Amino acid sequence: MKVKRLAFSTIILTYILIVFGGYVASSESGMGCGPEWPLCNGLVIPVLEGDTLIEFTHRAIGAVLGVMTAILYFIIQKSNQVRELDKASKVLMLLLIIQILLGAAVVWLDLPAVIVSVHLMVAMVFLAALIWIWRRADEQPWVKTRREQGVQNNIKAVLLLLFVTLFLGAYTKHESFGLACSWLECTNGFMPVFFSEMIQTGHRLLAGVLALYIFFLTYLSFKNRWEAGLQNRLMGASLLVLGQIIIGFLTIISYIEISWAVLHLAFGTALFAIVCEAGVFASYSCRVKRMGGRAVILITDNNNTQKRQSGDMPFLFCFSLFLQIFFSNFTSDFCVS
Ligand code: HEM
Repeated sequence: MKVKRLAFSTIILTYILIVFGGYVASSESGMGCGPEWPLCNGLVIPVLEGDTLIEFTHRAIGAVLGVMTAILYFIIQKSNQVRELDKASKVLMLLLIIQILLGAAVVWLDLPAVIVSVHLMVAMVFLAALIWIWRRADEQPWVKTRREQGVQNNIKAVLLLLFVTLFLGAYTKHESFGLACSWLECTNGFMPVFFSEMIQTGHRLLAGVLALYIFFLTYLSFKNRWEAGLQNRLMGASLLVLGQIIIGFLTIISYIEISWAVLHLAFGTALFAIVCEAGVFASYSCRVKRMGGRAVILITDNNNTQKRQSGDMPFLFCFSLFLQIFFSNFTSDFCVS
């Protein structure tokens, strides 16, 4: 339980750090400490004002995240967890080291677009690893059963598409291609001509394909009566991708106003998190019975004994779903029908 709670707190802090990183870039504060790392303007603690305050806060949150990740790693190593969890914690530490080095390279090399974009993508993989650890750190691990392989493959395909969309978005931002085309047309009509237009249009096009894919999977999940937990997650992803597209339009229409740009990253990261979590969820079994209006979840543990957990039926609506998914680790799981 300790691992699960710590993993969950680390997920929240990672999310905050990613979104704050977007604010650092949007406010053009990335060089607020000068081209230096680990020092900031030649000092351990610099004069905290303007860009320096913003960049230093980002580094400070990163340092706290580093400590939390190291603690999580040592707790997992010491607590004789299942082999997969042990491996995942090693991958997490490796990602942390890569991310620290990339962060340093970003400032030493004066924010090259490719490295800043890779820095964001490693942060996403780090978040995915944490979500995996969080979901797998149950006191009673669920037994894997045969599930439709197709569902899992579809979620993997969504993740891949989302990953490329995120990368193109980050590259668009850091190369300042955001206004290369309007939300609909480029300078010479619908077809992009210049490299900047191709990247920006590629980002919008992939976002459209991604949204249609997620909507279609959500529709299928209801039509073919997939597990309710999966339906909830796909519904959450649909709402987030819809919100993300609207915010994408607003980002362009507002000539890349900071608040819309940061919200765009916040929604994109939340979308990535919910799809990752759905992927982990889809690989486990969960059987549910109802008793007197309450949902009773039957979990099969390693010894094949059934344990019961109960919880109120969740009322699914917009963001309550998203909050529910993230806060459910403190109560029971929520694959209710
Ligand atoms: C639906 C999936 C979408 C995802 C996952 C996504 C993701 C992202 C990400 C991660 C960034 C970089 C943000 C940062 O590093 O701070 C970005 C930038 C951007 N996105 Fe999207 N996006 C999506 C849809 C759209 C759509 C539909 C549009 C336009 C109609 C759009 C327009 C933009 C623009 C203009 C930027 C650059 C913003 C800037 O310069 O600050 N995006 N996107």
